[in-house]
Amino acid sequence: KGCKLVGCGSAVPTLQVSNDDLAKIVDTSDEWIPVRTGIRNRRVLTGKDSLTGLAVEAAKRALQMAQVDPDDVDLVLLCTSTAEDLFGSAPQIQKALGCKRNPLAYDITAACSGFMLGLVSAACYIRGGGFNNVLVIGADALSRYVDWTDRGTCILFGDAAGAVVVQACDSEEDGLLGFDLHSDGDGQRHLNVPITEKESDHALGSNGSVLGFPPKRSSYSCIQMNGKEVFRFTARCVPQSIEYALQKAGLTSSSIDWLLLHQANQRIIDAVATRLEVPPERVISNLENYGNTSAASIPLALDEAVRSGKVKSGHIIAASGFGAGLTWGSAIVRW
Ligand code: ACO
Repeated sequence: KGCKLVGCGSAVPTLQVSNDDLAKIVDTSDEWIPVRTGIRNRRVLTGKDSLTGLAVEAAKRALQMAQVDPDDVDLVLLCTSTAEDLFGSAPQIQKALGCKRNPLAYDITAACSGFMLGLVSAACYIRGGGFNNVLVIGADALSRYVDWTDRGTCILFGDAAGAVVVQACDSEEDGLLGFDLHSDGDGQRHLNVPITEKESDHALGSNGSVLGFPPKRSSYSCIQMNGKEVFRFTARCVPQSIEYALQKAGLTSSSIDWLLLHQANQRIIDAVATRLEVPPERVISNLENYGNTSAASIPLALDEAVRSGKVKSGHIIAASGFGAGLTWGSAIVRW
């Protein structure tokens, strides 16, 4: 059995935050940020906007393009590190979409690589049998975990959601041509959002008795990143991972139509494209408008490229996600 991508969609919050806006709160500028990162604007969740709401919007658009009824969805994978419920948000999306058969829905947490893991997981479910339509959503709101006093990180991130529908097909039509996935827990120290723990002062039970131990309470702190180390990791691992995925697909970088990387930094995108000898006109980038949207960045950029007519039916895309964990992964897909 094969699987193919049959629809995509995306959604972003309405509030746009420019580099000049950020220069009012931290010591930075609209010169430094574009030169070092390629970013000019990002979207930020505010007011009544929710990440779950964005994910539902993106999913609806993907289902509409795919002409798949929510009742025919067999699995919903929500790739996010910023779920609005510690227990996961995917079932809420399944409910909001009105998938009446109660298909399985669960979260995948792998930061900026999440969407690649979701895509490959969808393919594995379909190839294993019993699943025909899998909705893969990448959605993150890292603005909630940004330290707005840290100019090294607050300029980088934005909020968004993107989705694709992966559908079962005959093996001759297979659209996932090769993939390669990795993680390295040793690099976790370079990029993380640790929990802060404190002993609870509510050890007193409802009957007035006190527990024999102080239970812990925890919450998440802010994004902590060693940008230089993360940059080095991408230069070392991303081109190699794409080359492995291409090898598995029996292709070389000269035979791809598009290179679509996680939108973290234009310098990373340019360096990987140069290493793989992919010319700039075959590189997809929308980082300028949205910043690093974590698990959403690849489906968001894909959706824009498809809807603008850049990516056409039959085009081969080399996609790669990388980020916290550390995790990284690549897939060669035919649109
Ligand atoms: N504005 C102005 N100056 C700044 C800013 C800013 N926003 N941020 C840092 N600087 C200063 C630094 O303080 C430093 O000053 P100094 O020389 O006086 O000490 C100088 O600029 C250079 O700082 P570096 O950190 O060396 O800058 P670098 O060129 O490495 O760029 C950046 C920093 C953009 C963060 C880069 O390292 C990067 O993009 N790394 C990859 C990060 C990444 O992709 N992370 C996301 C992974 S995805 C995920 O899973 C979440």
